[in-house]
Amino acid sequence: MMSDIKRFMRPELNKFAGYAACKSPEALDEETRRMGILKLDANENVYGPSPRVKAAFASFEDYHIYPDSCQTELRKALAGYTGVAAEHIVAGSGSDQLIDLLVRLFVNPGDEVLSFTPTFAMYKFFTELAGGKFVAVPRDENYNVVLDGLPRALTPKTKLIFIAMPNNPTGTQVPVEVVMKLIETGLPVVVDEAYYEFTGQTLADALDLFPNLMILRTFSKWAGLAGLRVGYGLFPHAVAERLDALKDPYCVNSAAVVAARESLKDVDYLMHKVNLIVGERDRLFDALTQIDYLKPYPSSANFILCKVTGKIALDIQLKLERRGILVRYFNSPQMENSLRFSIGRPQDTDRLITELQRIGEI
Ligand SMILES: Cc1ncc(COP(=O)(O)O)c(C=O)c1O
Repeated sequence: MMSDIKRFMRPELNKFAGYAACKSPEALDEETRRMGILKLDANENVYGPSPRVKAAFASFEDYHIYPDSCQTELRKALAGYTGVAAEHIVAGSGSDQLIDLLVRLFVNPGDEVLSFTPTFAMYKFFTELAGGKFVAVPRDENYNVVLDGLPRALTPKTKLIFIAMPNNPTGTQVPVEVVMKLIETGLPVVVDEAYYEFTGQTLADALDLFPNLMILRTFSKWAGLAGLRVGYGLFPHAVAERLDALKDPYCVNSAAVVAARESLKDVDYLMHKVNLIVGERDRLFDALTQIDYLKPYPSSANFILCKVTGKIALDIQLKLERRGILVRYFNSPQMENSLRFSIGRPQDTDRLITELQRIGEI
């Protein structure tokens, strides 16, 4: 007898919409691809990884061996980079995976996870996947965190607070004093420093002082390794030890380990590229202010969010896509009619601005 497989599925996931991921270049038609795709939609690093990564791959021979489940070499290298002892560090398949593991560690079905919206969608994604409730504390009209609403938003069910420093998709930096106020609640606080290298602002030094503070980082942005999926976190020892037990043993694959190791041997090279991106961010910001239908928001990361006025953001996104330029479109209650542009090389800025000007003339 045929059985309806759906009735065996968790019914609470029926409405789970998933994450609207960026379009991959492979999904575009031939004609658009021929134009040369400029991917400015996912805050990747257009400069790519350190050349040391490719060189190390060329001589890598251990594909048939599982990676070290204890992440010994990686944690040691990260300890050198962060100044935080290896037993406080856990790496994951992107920092996305660490967000997932943290939610699994702290959140029971019905528990609440709080963050300041608009923010990185994966906090809500993993909370809801775990049967938790995502509680959104709205930012102000310039996307700054306001804590006035915090006391009302906190309940006995609040188990975890996420704050992105700086925030994605808005680029807004959060003052350390604001994060301190969150830490003072005594609740577990995750400071997501995915864009740390673009700002230099970190709470890593405060880790020893606050047993409820956790920090997430990634190699996706500054080190150009988004495709290899490697992120890490700096945690109180008790959390690191539990995450280590929860993670699947080989969650960071061998190629990612090699690439992270080589990146950490080439920090000067990578930081030079980061500095180019930061310089280009200022140039793009100025150029965007000259486009009369865009209102850019100041950013501390490797992208700029713009509100679109007098035009339809989705139309602009599609027009850019037809010219081979991929950008991120948002249209949600706090981010109506908006576009986000990742920062590229100078020639990428020029190409984007030329197209935006053309669209302005239509
Ligand atoms: C704030 C923030 N945290 C985490 C991530 C996830 O990074 P990863 O590629 O390491 O999973 C991103 C990626 O865009 C991000 O913007």
